[in-house]
Order: sequence, then C-alpha cells, then structure tokens
Amino acid sequence: MSSSETPQILLTGAFGYIGGTILSYLISSDSPVLSASTITCLVRGPDRAAKLTETYGSRVRIILYKDLDDVEAATAAAAQHDLVINTTNGFHTPSAVALIKGLAQRKASTGRDVWYIQTSGTSNLSDRPVTGLWKEPEGREFDDVKDDVYGYEKSREENDHKYFQRTTELTVVDTSLEYGVKTVVIMSGLIFGRGKGLFNKDSIQIPDVVRAALKRKRTAVPGHGKGVWDHVHVEDLAELYVLLARQIVEKGGEGVPTGKKGIIFSGNGRHAWEEVAQRVADAAYAEGAIAQKEVEHLELSEAAKIFLGGQGGEEFVELALASNSRTVASVAKNLGWKPTRGEEAWKATFKEAVKAELEKL
Ligand SMILES: NC(=O)c1ccc[n+]([C@@H]2O[C@H](COP(=O)([O-])OP(=O)(O)OC[C@H]3O[C@@H](n4cnc5c(N)ncnc54)[C@H](OP(=O)(O)O)[C@@H]3O)[C@@H](O)[C@H]2O)c1
Repeated sequence: MSSSETPQILLTGAFGYIGGTILSYLISSDSPVLSASTITCLVRGPDRAAKLTETYGSRVRIILYKDLDDVEAATAAAAQHDLVINTTNGFHTPSAVALIKGLAQRKASTGRDVWYIQTSGTSNLSDRPVTGLWKEPEGREFDDVKDDVYGYEKSREENDHKYFQRTTELTVVDTSLEYGVKTVVIMSGLIFGRGKGLFNKDSIQIPDVVRAALKRKRTAVPGHGKGVWDHVHVEDLAELYVLLARQIVEKGGEGVPTGKKGIIFSGNGRHAWEEVAQRVADAAYAEGAIAQKEVEHLELSEAAKIFLGGQGGEEFVELALASNSRTVASVAKNLGWKPTRGEEAWKATFKEAVKAELEKL
C-alpha cells in the first residue's frame, strides 16, 4: 500500500469479543497511519451501531448488512477497502469468500495490493484423545514457520473428517490465492480475559466451563482432562492484530507471510483441560457458588449435554475442551509481537470469569 494513500480498513465482528477488543486497540493505536484512519465496521443491528458511533465518533464508519448470509453487501463493502479484518464466526465460509471477492474488486480498481486477515482457531489441529478417532505423536507441536500447517489441515480434511472451522480456513486461503488477495489467518487457542468491546466481553471456553459449574454446582471435564492447549489474553491478541495491520498499512506487509504460509499462531501459554476445570472449581468455591472443589470426569455423551450450551455435539466438545493442540507462534514473535499478559493474568482470569457469570445471574 503506497504511503500517499489513506488505507481503507474494514472490520467485521465489532460487536463481538475479539472484534470489539481489536476495534478499541485500532482506535487507540499510536500509529500515525492508523490514527488518521477511519475504521469501517460491517455490522448488523442499527441500535448497537449507533452506540459505536456515539462512543468512537468519526473514528468509525458504519455499514449495516442483514447478516452473514448477506454476501452481496459484504462484497460491496470489502470492494471499498484495502484491508479487511474478519472476526465473525470463523466457520462461516460464504461471508469470508464474499469479503475476499470484494477485495479482489478493490485491487482491480486501484491496482494496489489488498489484504485480508481471517480469525480462526487451533481446534482445527486438535487430536481426538477421548474417542481415539485421531491420534498424534505425544507432545506434537506445530510451528508456523517450520511446519506446513496448510498441508496438514488439507490432509486432516481428507483423512479424518471435514471440520467446519478448518473447511472455512482452507477455503479462505485457496480463494485468496485464486483472487490475488494477500491473506493471513490468525489461529488462536483458548482466548481469555475480559473483552474491551462495547458489547460481548466473554470468550467461549472458560465462561462456558463456569456456566456449567454454576448450574451443576460442581466442575467437570470431558474425559481424562490431560489434553494440552495454548492460550492467549484477548488484549495481547488484539495487539497482534494491530501489529499486523500496522505492518500492512505502514510497510506494505513486509515480513508478513501470506497464502499457504500465512496461517499463524498466537499462543502465549499452555494449560491442560483439567487445570481449567480445577481453577474454575477453586474460584467458584471461593465465591461460595459451588459446594465442592473436586472435578468430575465425564463421558463425552454426558459432557456434550452440559458444555457449549448443549449445542456443540460430542465431536466439538472433544476438539474444543478435551484435546491436544500445541502451537508455536514464531511468526508473531519474529514480527516483534511481545505479549505481556502471562501466567499472572491467566491465574487471575478464573476469578474474573466466575464473578462475571455470577453477576449475570
Ligand atoms: N473466543 C475464542 O476463544 C476463540 C478462539 C479461537 C478462535 N475463535 C474464532 O473467532 C470467532 C469469533 O469469536 P468471538 O469469541 O469473538 O465470538 P463473538 O463474541 O460471538 O463474536 C462474533 C461476531 O460475529 C458476529 N456474527 C455472528 N453471527 C452473525 C450473523 N449471522 N450475522 C452477522 N454477524 C454475525 C457477531 O455479531 P452479532 O453481535 O450481531 O451477533 C459478533 O460480532 C469464533 O467463531 C472462532 O471461529 C474464537
């Protein structure tokens, strides 16, 4: 992107946990280019959109659409922008493809590079240790510089099964290559901490484990709970998105891998699932919200009824709450990303999450 042009940035998911946090970080960035930019938010819901404008004034511009299936509106919006940051559901393929096609139109009309950032998750790489349906060597780690993550995911789709978020991610990479759009996929593990957006401030897994515990008056984990995942604080993650955005709008994306090598990680710590359940138990017990600290181990069929609102099904519960998925965020670190919310923030998040859920009750 030439420095004489003001880059046009479009963000989706600005009402959400990740997107809302990214928006607040984009707006408060001290980057001269970002400070001079208006962030367009493609959202549904005029009332909430009005609240965004009320809060951020002329720093945001709103484009309303019906929903993720309103693909014509998504393409038309992206066609006015140079960088799209997509943080809506990482498993909605048509909306992601629509945004990429819009960027391709922008490229054709301006002759400049266009960039797309997709939000995805490391459950795409999870093994299946409870059912034993997919095994990986003990302790396997994926490094975004050293490993062919794209090739691995392709082979999982063929040899294991199609998994919605992975299918979307691979379609995003393939479509971007076909249309000449420079794409980076940020694949995160468990994201923790309170969001900084105006609306949803809750992540997925820890609040879900808390809700199940408060309902059943004890905590539980699917299977043995020994599976290990990465985690990252939502504000550290927002800083990574902003770092990439800066690299793109200030330096033409220098050093940012794209396409098949553009699937990058954001992990900044690791946990076993039984640790999550135990920390939730300790925090809920301390608040007097549950009667015992002992964690119960559940069969997948039982776990599927109580976790993820009972809507996820056994497979998703196994991939997202019981599996192994270890990654190494080499690309982000090489680009200068310095996450600061480590072990202390991780330990503190459980009390915060329990309090947030208790307040809702
Ligand atoms: N949170 C995590 O721990 C985590 C970890 C790794 C990857 N991810 C990926 O990140 C994605 C977003 O996560 P999140 O935690 O930020 O979720 P979230 O808080 O629920 O945000 C999702 C956003 O998508 C929008 N959206 C959802 N359905 C829509 C529809 N039908 N039409 C228009 N907009 C729609 C929501 O807008 P409305 O407010 O209008 O519904 C909201 O802005 C996940 O789907 C997942 O693929 C999340």
